[in-house]
Amino acid sequence: QTEISRVRNLERIQMGGHEIEPWYFSPYPAEFADAELVYVCEFCLGYFGEERQFVRHRAKCTLLHPPGNEIYRDDYVSFFEIDGRRQRTWCRNLCLLSKLFLDHKTLYYDVDPFLFYCMCTRDEHGCHLVGYFSKEKESAEGYNVACILTLPQYQRKGFGKLLIAFSYELSKREGKLGSPEKPLSDLGLLGYRAYWQETIVDILMDGRAEANVEELGAMTSMTTNDVLHTLQNLNMLRYSKNQHVIVLTDAVVKQHERQKEKEKIKGKRAIDSEKLIWKPPV
Ligand code: COA
Ligand code: NA
Repeated sequence: QTEISRVRNLERIQMGGHEIEPWYFSPYPAEFADAELVYVCEFCLGYFGEERQFVRHRAKCTLLHPPGNEIYRDDYVSFFEIDGRRQRTWCRNLCLLSKLFLDHKTLYYDVDPFLFYCMCTRDEHGCHLVGYFSKEKESAEGYNVACILTLPQYQRKGFGKLLIAFSYELSKREGKLGSPEKPLSDLGLLGYRAYWQETIVDILMDGRAEANVEELGAMTSMTTNDVLHTLQNLNMLRYSKNQHVIVLTDAVVKQHERQKEKEKIKGKRAIDSEKLIWKPPV
């Protein structure tokens, strides 16, 4: 199969009261390219080229949350775990939708080898999908995330950070170190770098760990490689007496304080590991 860099095919989509402009091509049926607006059901993720069909569908659709177990709930978000093999149609619909915002991932049809961790906010109408990540049931490379997406209408509000934090919570529960599948997109890299930096500097600032790479990895479930690269990027590694030494530079401390200030204003959100009701699938 030749991977032609195809042009964006959908003009606009409507989903859960939001109108969104797709970023990239996604292999929706060809006839949808002619629709002015494609209606996506925010619960079953089915798609419709005409409002009439969509309205008829909404009257019949009974789904109020992603079709899996709720494995996490706090007062802000819920996470559902969906098995690609058991919920093939739903997961294919999710992949089609997310391809609109992903340039380089080519998974649409073979969803069987993946679990999908879907994050929702809740209200009286149901659980509204905000974002998700997929994860291979078996990853030879030790990846703990395959694809990760915050729907555009929810981006830049801290949800990506929650998704990433959740993926590392699962790795902690598995007793494994994990890393996202490469290559990361530009936005993926920005999101991960921000998470890695904040997580590591947090630990170093409050003195919870010996400042060495292995221990930082063990505490965070980040791979040694990701810890090392993060420290290198921040210019926090020194070499002294034949040893690596981690130093907190003024610049890093200042930036961390600015970040904390920003979070105080926005309201800090975190994943509470005690609210994760989950055992690694066997
Ligand atoms: N420009 C600059 N920095 C950005 C950024 C952007 N557009 N988006 C995220 N970041 C960085 C910032 O440091 C941000 O922290 P701040 O808002 O306090 O400055 C940090 O990442 C976390 O942002 P957050 O709001 O938690 O992330 P998000 O909900 O927007 O989700 C992605 C991040 C990557 C999941 C989202 O951009 C996305 O879905 N992109 C499209 C799909 C994709 O490329 N996925 C990765 C595939 S490998
Ligand atoms: Na990824």
